[in-house]
Amino acid sequence: MVHEHDVVIVGAGIAGLYAALVSSRSVDTAVLSKVYPTRSHSISAQGGTAASLGNMEEDNWEWHLYDTVRGSDYLGDQDAQEILVREAVEVAYELEHLGCPFSRTEGGKMAQRAFGGHYSNFAKGPVRRACYAADRTGHAMLHTLYEQGIKNGVRFYPEYFILNLLVENNVCSGVVAWDMKNGGLHVFHAKTVMFATGGYARAWKVNTNSLSNTGDGMALVLQAGLPLEDMEFVQFHPTGLYPSGVLVTEGARGEGGYLVNSEGKRFMEKYAPAKMELSPRDVVSRSIQTEINEGRGIGGKGYVHLDLRHLGKQAIMEKLPQIHELILKFAGIDAITDFVPILPTAHYAMGGIPTNVDGQVVMDPKNTPVTGFYAAGECACVSNHGANRLGCNSTMDCSVYGRRTGRSMVRYIQGGGEKAPLPKDALERGRAKIEGFLTRKGDESPAAIRDELQQTMMVNCGVFREEKLLKKQLEIIKSLEERFQKVPVGYKGNCFFNTDLTDVIELGNMLDFAETIVVGGLARTESRGAHSRKDYPKRDDVNWLKHTLAWKTDSGIRLDYKPVVITRYKPEERKF
Ligand code: FUM
Repeated sequence: MVHEHDVVIVGAGIAGLYAALVSSRSVDTAVLSKVYPTRSHSISAQGGTAASLGNMEEDNWEWHLYDTVRGSDYLGDQDAQEILVREAVEVAYELEHLGCPFSRTEGGKMAQRAFGGHYSNFAKGPVRRACYAADRTGHAMLHTLYEQGIKNGVRFYPEYFILNLLVENNVCSGVVAWDMKNGGLHVFHAKTVMFATGGYARAWKVNTNSLSNTGDGMALVLQAGLPLEDMEFVQFHPTGLYPSGVLVTEGARGEGGYLVNSEGKRFMEKYAPAKMELSPRDVVSRSIQTEINEGRGIGGKGYVHLDLRHLGKQAIMEKLPQIHELILKFAGIDAITDFVPILPTAHYAMGGIPTNVDGQVVMDPKNTPVTGFYAAGECACVSNHGANRLGCNSTMDCSVYGRRTGRSMVRYIQGGGEKAPLPKDALERGRAKIEGFLTRKGDESPAAIRDELQQTMMVNCGVFREEKLLKKQLEIIKSLEERFQKVPVGYKGNCFFNTDLTDVIELGNMLDFAETIVVGGLARTESRGAHSRKDYPKRDDVNWLKHTLAWKTDSGIRLDYKPVVITRYKPEERKF
């Protein structure tokens, strides 16, 4: 079956839904998602969304820009970052007017809280910049945008699993997807395709991500012969609940929570005396991991404590109610009266599908656009976050760049952009892919391979890295790729959520993008932001102030590089 639409968006998180809302006001818009839209991973965003509204104290976009540039360890593109922080203010109010139920000050303004890496007056003092809806900010934003999408007549295709991206001669004509519930392959033919397919942290054992975050969009881009950008930069959130890694929002530290080690000391004094627990995430995660590695984890184990007790019951129940509930349900601990065990947890992809500031996917160091193909949100790399993202800049990135990408697709279509012809064998490509999996013979278990990938990525490609571990991990991934060819799909049915099949497809996708992370990380012989090499502990602006591009070829991963856009702020040493 072939579906015809002007715009087809894959992914129904904040970026996809914001783009759909904007484009559906002018052109026929469809959204495909492998989960029901309101189950998209944006729902899990907890602590806030950044905008320099200045509702609590003075703030402005230039301070927000400075923090974002420094936070990114100078690898972010400053033209994109300036757009993010300027448009954030307008977008926050737009979300409010669309009905997003943000928490309020006593005077009725949108309330704001502190977050790591966000400061006033060029990093002098603290500032409350994160707009929030208690600790369910993503939930509030996602539901608002979904309701608006329904109101605007967006056509939703929920629980469709994307199999192929159709790009020929640098022009995109559509996608092929599988209807997971009813069965059957569907070709989507469009003037523009946008990927808003989210992140990939399920490739690590300890992570904050939904089961669905297996980097499918990024892997499909590689499989279509296009590059990914800066994949070596993987964010570990400092506070995952021990041992699973379930997110404990940075808003908890924003509200005044402390980190303490086995000696009962607030160890951040040693690592970042000025900004303490509200330093950027790369700094706090490394500090926690160092405490653990040097034996000052609680009882010598792999966690330290987050102390919220002094905040008091009223503040915890009013501002962090979900966190209180999650900690109680997952760890059996009451954060009002007890310490919370936490450890760094894989959280966010700074890298992804390279785009320009209008959301158009680009394919080489000269930023040549791919006609008709767009991306935004966590799957994309524009690059707002460079080597390290600041907390609460992600939901705003999804909003600002989702909106921009929606507008940009409308401009392209209203300017005469037409559908490129579908490849004659479009449907056949989807069928061949599924048949290829279904007819595989062998006795390898997908769960065992996935587990080995997740466990080894933690050890060899985690908060700290070094050459011998990254090399080892590359060998492991190659051997897992070989074993993956011998993974049979147990159940071969075509409908009713064949998770035997989707698990295998997702595993293949994880192996594909994981290789780009390790190869990019091996090549980058410096430490910058979240990429922390024990064997190259310093940042090296002479050789490495550049973005990585990675292609998957028959002979392995090919790397190339492109310059970073620097407008206002030249690289300086970071101190917190
Ligand atoms: O800590 C958090 O609430 C997560 C926010 C983010 O990743 O931006």
